[in-house]
Amino acid sequence: MEQHDGGGTAPHPDPFRGDWAETERRLPALTGAAWAAKRRSALAERFPGERIVVPSGGLKVRSNDFDHTFRPHSAFVHLTGEQGTHAVPDSVLVLEPTGSGHSVTLFTRPRSPRDGGPDGAEFHSDRRYGEFWVGRRRTLAETADALGIEAAARDGLRRALAGEVPTRVVRGVDALVDSLVPPARRAEAELEGFLAESRLVKDEWEVDQLRAAVGSTVAGFHDAVGELDRATRLARGERWIEGTFNRRARLDGYGLGFETIAAAGAHACVLHWMSNDGPVRDGDLLLLDAGVEADTFYTGDVTRTLPVGGRFTDVQRRVYDLVFAAQSAGIAALRPGARYGDFHEAAMRVIAEGLDGWGLRPPGATASTPVSGLYRRYTVCGSGHMLGLDCHDCAGARDETYLGGTLEPGHVLTVEPGLYFQPDDLTVPEELRGIGVRIEDDFVITADGALCLSSGLPRGADEVEEWVASPSR
Ligand code: GLY
Ligand code: MN
Repeated sequence: MEQHDGGGTAPHPDPFRGDWAETERRLPALTGAAWAAKRRSALAERFPGERIVVPSGGLKVRSNDFDHTFRPHSAFVHLTGEQGTHAVPDSVLVLEPTGSGHSVTLFTRPRSPRDGGPDGAEFHSDRRYGEFWVGRRRTLAETADALGIEAAARDGLRRALAGEVPTRVVRGVDALVDSLVPPARRAEAELEGFLAESRLVKDEWEVDQLRAAVGSTVAGFHDAVGELDRATRLARGERWIEGTFNRRARLDGYGLGFETIAAAGAHACVLHWMSNDGPVRDGDLLLLDAGVEADTFYTGDVTRTLPVGGRFTDVQRRVYDLVFAAQSAGIAALRPGARYGDFHEAAMRVIAEGLDGWGLRPPGATASTPVSGLYRRYTVCGSGHMLGLDCHDCAGARDETYLGGTLEPGHVLTVEPGLYFQPDDLTVPEELRGIGVRIEDDFVITADGALCLSSGLPRGADEVEEWVASPSR
């Protein structure tokens, strides 16, 4: 290949040709790879005689020729054990039916060659995939070693997906895969449901990953509380808190499980306030809802609502204490065999009765039905969700296994009731308007109860005041 200087006229030899040392390395298996192999076996058993295709997805443009950080699809991660910066965009896991079961191949991008061929210039001239631009990808042999899965070049995907084999794909993740396999709505919904449900009960390794992710999340909260005072002196103090937490996320993990919510004052009434462009004022509450995503892509999800000056006002404490009591009731309802909805109902009962005690009822509610959907005016959403590779994990599971199901050992979930009195809500006394409180912790269901993974953070009003007044780090 010949290249030309910017303004020159005479061609000269390719300056990148030849004289590169061999740097192939054998990688140890990733820690989740053996666990992922078991999950693939269960998937293969569920769909005998069928081809199953699970793509990782690819890069997404942020602007012009810059992409967002790559984050593979959670179903792909679950079935491969892929981790952090190793992950290769546009990979596709294929389970191919054989006489006796399935063979498994990962179609992926190999390391770019240095020795010519059709991709010969990629390593130095491709801004998106080139080694000199974004770093070294694994060779196919290295991928096979790391994941324990036979690896082949993605170029072979078209041929691999040909033929009259009944095929189920996770659709909407990889455009080439979608174009090669005709849609089969019911079969695909069944596959998605199965994949989501297979993530409901976390194995031992996954619980360890969640423990680590939540541990880093706890550290990020301590970091943020240590910066509260400084945040009050900045025009966009919410951003300072966001940046402080996010630094921890990148330091300890791969990044964030979701965009950090740093909501001061009435912003706390916006459930997913992610603009974070407001001030943090002494006397206000700051609601911080954030989660570190570990290198294995499992995430924490914790919320604390903090009195910025170190003391709750009487009315702030009244709201805080009620949410605290609701969360405590929700936590007490966590045990194997309980209905999934029990913890939400327990929390809502406390909220409804507490508001009733204040003489506050949403329009339409009566004393005889204190717990009703009408209270959503002040609580807006449910009191928790499954947690794992996605912050809102297992969303594709059927009702009977998730929302209408029962808790089992290995379920990991959040308990996060809240009260949000909108600043323009004329049904509440003026002193409550603009106050939003949420308290959120992460739990793993055990054989006889539940274990709090985020117990490293103060939770009760007194402890929170003490924490803010004298941050421990
Ligand atoms: N932490 C964000 C949410 O649970 O919606
Ligand atoms: Mn949550």
